[in-house]
Amino acid sequence: MPSVLNLTSENIEKAATALRAGELVAFPTETVYGLGADATNARAVAKIYEAKNRPSFNPLIVHFPDVEHVSQMAHMSPVANQLAAHFWPGAISFVLSRKPECPISKLVSAGLPTFAARVPAQAGAQNLFRVAGIPIAAPSANRSGRVSPTLASHVADDLRDKVDLILDDGPCTIGLESTVIDLSGKIPTILRPGGVTQEDIEDVLKRQVIVASSNTESPKSPGMLLSHYAPSLPVRMNAECANAGEAYLGFRDTPHAEMNLSISGNLMEAAANLFACLHDLDDPRWTGIAVAPIPERSLGRAINDRLRRACAPRA
Ligand code: TXA
Ligand code: MG
Repeated sequence: MPSVLNLTSENIEKAATALRAGELVAFPTETVYGLGADATNARAVAKIYEAKNRPSFNPLIVHFPDVEHVSQMAHMSPVANQLAAHFWPGAISFVLSRKPECPISKLVSAGLPTFAARVPAQAGAQNLFRVAGIPIAAPSANRSGRVSPTLASHVADDLRDKVDLILDDGPCTIGLESTVIDLSGKIPTILRPGGVTQEDIEDVLKRQVIVASSNTESPKSPGMLLSHYAPSLPVRMNAECANAGEAYLGFRDTPHAEMNLSISGNLMEAAANLFACLHDLDDPRWTGIAVAPIPERSLGRAINDRLRRACAPRA
């Protein structure tokens, strides 16, 4: 079982050290407990998906101690600054465009040119991010399909030895996930309702915002956004070798590979490398990207889910 530690400054130091070393740390926010990892370390981020047993790579929210840290890595539009001034720190996350030099792992963004940023109000969480000195990727600290945790004991019962350390600060005051609003386009669009309401946001902006329908037909809903992202080259999965003109993305000891997801056949490493490899091979030198077979187990299911989307006929 993981160690559950009270949120003292000594334990915050311990948790920050664990995060910097690439370990998973669960921490409280005012919404729900998050399962945190170093957002700049793709292998640490891959551990999150593994621990949650997520069947697909949903993009994750990245946590910061304040808005200044966010603006170093993302483009803050005037609307984003206006909303930040009113609602941060708080229960709202902004989807923003990545700056070119943004060090956040592509796995966090699930290959999208954006990432979701949040500055939580919980003082202990803010201290943790400040002491750690790195952006912290964190979904809710529960296994996929289970309810979000609002107590440290929920996290311990659900994730058990999948998490290295849990910081305990009692019950979450809001107990419902943050609102996710996409500010990367022209019109602010609420992707997920949450702690801050549509009315609150419209009061501040003095304009209407769009609410993406939760209907999966909507191209604005996060799940669908994923299927809209694909390399510009066609992708072929379960390929034993490349055809003429194709780049080959190998796995394990596949010969003649331009790049390899994991030479040792480690699925965690493969997940960590997936989006960066697809990005690098998406080059007009090639006519397509052929990807070696990936076993359909553990993180391999999420990798194959992503590859199926990348292979799907383009709109
Ligand atoms: O309250 C919360 O938001 C908690 C605490 C820990 O901060 N976090 C949380 O994260 O609920 P998660 O991973 O369970 O939910 C992230 C949501 C998903 O709906 C995801 O699709 C959306 O944010 N999201 C993240 N990045 C995105 C992006 N670049 N574009 C569109 N949607 C994104
Ligand atoms: Mg969740």
